[in-house]
Amino acid sequence: MDSILVRGGGELNGVIPIAGAKNACLTLMPATLLTEEPLTLTNAPRLSDIRTMTQLLGSLGAEVASLQSGQVLAMSSHNIHNHTADYDIVRKMRASILVLGPMLARDGHAIVSLPGGCAIGARPVDLHLQALEALGAELELREGYVHAKAIGGRLRGGVIDFPIVSVGATENALLASTLAKGTTVIKNAAREPEIVDLAQCLRRMGAQIEGEGTSTITIQGVDRLGGATHPVVTDRIELGTYMLAPAICGGEVECLGGRIELVGAFCEKLDAAGVSVEQTERGIKVKRKNGRVNAVDVTTEPFPGFPTDLQAQMMALLCTANGTSVLEEKIFENRFMHAPELIRMGAKIEVHGGHATVTGVEKLKGARVMATDLRASVSLILAAMAAEGETVVSRVYHLDRGYERVEEKLGACGAHIERIAT
Ligand code: EPZ
Repeated sequence: MDSILVRGGGELNGVIPIAGAKNACLTLMPATLLTEEPLTLTNAPRLSDIRTMTQLLGSLGAEVASLQSGQVLAMSSHNIHNHTADYDIVRKMRASILVLGPMLARDGHAIVSLPGGCAIGARPVDLHLQALEALGAELELREGYVHAKAIGGRLRGGVIDFPIVSVGATENALLASTLAKGTTVIKNAAREPEIVDLAQCLRRMGAQIEGEGTSTITIQGVDRLGGATHPVVTDRIELGTYMLAPAICGGEVECLGGRIELVGAFCEKLDAAGVSVEQTERGIKVKRKNGRVNAVDVTTEPFPGFPTDLQAQMMALLCTANGTSVLEEKIFENRFMHAPELIRMGAKIEVHGGHATVTGVEKLKGARVMATDLRASVSLILAAMAAEGETVVSRVYHLDRGYERVEEKLGACGAHIERIAT
């Protein structure tokens, strides 16, 4: 099992290319099931989660060719011979549930394993099921699988009113409704850029969608969708993660492909902390305004609020801020597992339920720490780069799910970081 060794100290200077968004690609890929024509994604990220989705779609009968060393995914689903998404694949990656809506829309039936929870929370899928029932699906839970079928053989349009904002449930509803008979209205829809990207891709395929990016999305179902070629939107979470690197270590880094509108609320917090953020022709340039950042309070919310997927990384910055910060995690019930690992490095953090109070210290100290989930793992690497001494982060398979070539990208800017077998 690989670990990452980081020798702390030294500023970061240079450029970091930002890849296509994992969380956009994972919802764009199942769209291939909605058509028998080729769907090609460009600017795709090279990540283990993408390989898992490729494996899942392949098990259903879709063909997914990974071209140009994984940056292009050429997909076609003219021969879907299996409608069961198996537990062994689904349990590895929750986003597998996103094949349920498209399979139902395409052939009127599907069997998908319940994903089960993960480190950051129970993560039920009841809102996904509620949405599909509103589109005329009959669902039965049996032995850990959702057995779904469209009443009358085809989904029909309906009104979906989500009690809470759910990115995945909005995506499943959007995918399924494109081929439903009639009009669908999704209320309290998620507004994330990944939803907008999915809608833009579906529209290229012939879907009739309005309102993406707002809380109400309206879809006129069509009888069939065609193929398309679509570029995956820039990964705003990878962007925010690497913007924090110079904020934590000092120096100046330009994140190529970054756009401020993807990380608006996050940039406001960086500005308040004393980090300058400048949109350039090529991307976003980031550097600290002076030696030490200021403490700021952060509350995670659905887009356009501060993203929960940047909470762990922001905590790494605030561990050495001047003053005390309070982070409130309002999206997931257990997303502070990076805190005990940062405390091993000398951070002063107190966690009470959904709140973490961070009292800044001058410097963290290197230690052996353990990654517990995707964003926690990169938070530890950010903290380690500015810490005194060496840090070894174990279980970095979490990291490889969402960040391609971390040691290369940070190493190119002067970080002392390498992958070691442990
Ligand atoms: C997506 O997960 C992302 N994953 C997550 O990123 C991200 O943290 C999350 O959205 C919030 O932005 C992908 O896009 C693949 P939700 P998702 O449904 O769709 C509850 C990462 O690090 N809920 O918006 O699963 C849920 O428990 C990952 O890249 C229900 O109660 O998130 C949570 O508390 C981590 N019932 C809240 O809603 C449901 O049916 C928001 O979850 C669905 C969700």
